Amino acid sequence: MEFIFDALVVGSGLAGLRAALEIPENLKVGLISKVFPTRSHSGAAQGGIGAALGNEEPDSWEWHMYDTVKGGDYLTDQDAAETLAMDAARAVYELEHMGVPFNRTPEGKIAQRAFGGHTRNFGEGPVKRSCFAADRTGRVVLDTMFGKAVERKIHIFTEFYMLDVIIDHGKVAGIISYELATGHLHTIWSKAVLIATGGFGRVYKTNSNCFTNTGDGVYLCYRNGVPLEDMEFVQFHPTGIYPLGVLVSEAARGEGGVLKNGIGRRFMPDYAPTLVDLAPRDVVSRAISTEIRAGRGVDGKDYVNLDLTHLGADKIEEKLSDISSFARIYLGVDATSEPIPVTPTCHYMMGGIPTDLNGRVLNVNGSPISGLYSAGEAACVSVHGANRLGTNSLLDLVVFGRRAGRAMTEDIKSLGAPTPVKDSQGRVEARIKAIKDGKGPKPADLRTKMKQIMTDFCSVFRNQADMERGLREIRGLKEQYRSVSIDNKGENYNTDLLDAIELESLLGLAEVILVSALSRTESRGAHYREDYPDRDDHNWLKHTLVMAGSHDPEVSFKPVKITRFQPKARKF
Ligand code: FUM
Repeated sequence: MEFIFDALVVGSGLAGLRAALEIPENLKVGLISKVFPTRSHSGAAQGGIGAALGNEEPDSWEWHMYDTVKGGDYLTDQDAAETLAMDAARAVYELEHMGVPFNRTPEGKIAQRAFGGHTRNFGEGPVKRSCFAADRTGRVVLDTMFGKAVERKIHIFTEFYMLDVIIDHGKVAGIISYELATGHLHTIWSKAVLIATGGFGRVYKTNSNCFTNTGDGVYLCYRNGVPLEDMEFVQFHPTGIYPLGVLVSEAARGEGGVLKNGIGRRFMPDYAPTLVDLAPRDVVSRAISTEIRAGRGVDGKDYVNLDLTHLGADKIEEKLSDISSFARIYLGVDATSEPIPVTPTCHYMMGGIPTDLNGRVLNVNGSPISGLYSAGEAACVSVHGANRLGTNSLLDLVVFGRRAGRAMTEDIKSLGAPTPVKDSQGRVEARIKAIKDGKGPKPADLRTKMKQIMTDFCSVFRNQADMERGLREIRGLKEQYRSVSIDNKGENYNTDLLDAIELESLLGLAEVILVSALSRTESRGAHYREDYPDRDDHNWLKHTLVMAGSHDPEVSFKPVKITRFQPKARKF
């Protein structure tokens, strides 16, 4: 079938939903999602949304902006950080008015707690800035916003996959989508298309991401000539449940939890004397990995302990109930009386599709691609720089999702009807046929190898030899993928086929991460190179852009926007 919309949103997490809600009802808005919208990964966000409300102690948006820039190791574009921090209070009150059930202070204000890297007075010590609903903040925000989308009768296509973006003569015309239930292809024409398909943490073995985070939107843009920005910056959250990687919110440390090594010693004061356990994630993840490498993991294994036992059962039940139940369910650990084993887990991609402050996707020369928008983890407005602060993700989704919806609304007035492209489905049909006819390896085998390669060779610590080996091996897998095969050749609910298609995205993005990481010969934020351990502002205060080349990906650079805060050494 064919559909025509004024605006099409791809992805039903918070960025997509917030954008869709911003587009006025007189315009025809469609939204497609791989999953039922409330299953989107935004729902997994636990610890809160950052805003300098000052409900628990004095705070200011300038401090929030500073923390965002410093947390991002000065790669953050400062106009984006200013937009984020200045708009945060409005965004949180908007959520409150939509009906999000935030925890409350005794006086009835939105309760706030401390989170990694968020400080008072430009770095003096932790500040309570995260607005939260226990440890299920993303869950309640997503449910609330989905309710609003239903009220608005937005046309939602559930379990529809995007298999191609149609960009013709530098202008977006729509997408090709695959309906999981029937196996039918649909062309959805639209004047404006927003890519809000989230991240791709599933390239790593240990990760906190849901199964659907395979980066399809990011990869399809890349394959269609859109550059990808800052892809070397992969965030490892310090506290994934060992060995699964399931997230234990930073809120656990915000509420007073502490990290201890194998000899029962708190080690974070050695690495971050001021913020200790509440240093930014790149610092804490490196500290944990350093302890483990030095043989100070628990019982000589690859984990340390997160101790909440001194918080008391009541506080754990009231504010950390989900994570304590994860510990109980997955490990049989009772967090009120035993520490939780944790290890860094791939959590978030700072890089992605380059956009301006209004979600307009930028080409390699920095000009907008007509009709194409992106927001959320798929995008790189570069508000997180080289390392995102916890709670800035939910904020990014609602602040920049809304701005993208506004920009689409504005631009639609002059975009004109999409021009149908002849044989738009041909490339996708050929791709599906090739997979069904394939005689080579199975997707699951290639995927397992890919995750191991990325984990072994491009993780918290990196060096040239490892990454070169990783790149060779990923390219070997890409070669094998050309004859990938599946057992299920059917039409209905063929998840085998989609696994195979998603694997192409993951492999392509794994290659881009490695190419970007090899190119950056310095350490900054989450990108730590053992062979270049220092930050090098002279040569590297710039963003990377990777374009699909005729053979190998091509790397170029663009400047960082610095407005208020000049780069200086990061101390926590
Ligand atoms: O630790 C957490 O609760 C995660 C929050 C985030 O990534 O923003």
